[in-house]
Amino acid sequence: MTACDDFRLDDGCEWEELHPARLLGMMASTRLGRTVTLYDEIDSTNRAAAEAAAGGAPEGAVFIARRQYAGRGRKGRDWVATEDGSLVFSIILRPSRSPESLTTLLALAVARTVDRISPELETSIKWPNDIFIDGKKAAGILAESKGNDVIVGTGIDINETIDDFPEWLREIAVSLRIVSGMRFDRGKILAGIIAELEDLYSRWEREGLSVLKFDVERKLLWKGMEASIDTGAGIFSGVITGITSEGYLRMISAGGEEIFQTGDVAAKAGG
Ligand code: BTN
Repeated sequence: MTACDDFRLDDGCEWEELHPARLLGMMASTRLGRTVTLYDEIDSTNRAAAEAAAGGAPEGAVFIARRQYAGRGRKGRDWVATEDGSLVFSIILRPSRSPESLTTLLALAVARTVDRISPELETSIKWPNDIFIDGKKAAGILAESKGNDVIVGTGIDINETIDDFPEWLREIAVSLRIVSGMRFDRGKILAGIIAELEDLYSRWEREGLSVLKFDVERKLLWKGMEASIDTGAGIFSGVITGITSEGYLRMISAGGEEIFQTGDVAAKAGG
């Protein structure tokens, strides 16, 4: 096996890492990832995908950027991505179900792909849209809808060293390279995520999130532990018990069970 044959990256195959022709050749999927657009530089792949979707681009079309300079995060936040380290992409979906759990679906696809390439990394899903490794964020997911079009995008920190992150991110973000000491082929990771997503998406379209609930709950960060959630309207504390079949978060406290559609979850200090 040469260095280019598995997910790990060595000099010699890097130049073509994100080339669309290469990516199309690696896609094992039949419905998603049949068209790939690579931008050298774009403000936001989610924005570009939304524009293409409005112009009639097909479901499953994938939009990647080498450099994304105005990445969008949840709740109007910015998303910072490095040119050589991050994998940033968005995909157009036109689901036949209500789209609220698509963030969870992509989170599961990313976590499963990372687990497959490096099982020792132990990914968790921090509800609703983050992938955590070693207590730090390695990926974020943003789903945005307009009419029937849903754009789901993810930014994954893959080959960054700690010095590649701005100082304020170093305590809270991590890359696959920082935790494993390896560099990975971002193109192969993308193809792996699309294949996982295609499988999850067709199961979800047939049967809803309830068939995947158990898989998500097994990966749910702080499940069974005391945590707090800031909903914007207030802060609630309790024990995370799981998710509902719509993908909402379930927590329990002395006051009983509460279900949250949105919010920022934090571990209880000292917990
Ligand atoms: C978050 O953690 O708040 C979500 C971050 C989502 C970032 C990705 S990067 C690719 C896609 N394009 C964007 O502008 N945002 C998403």
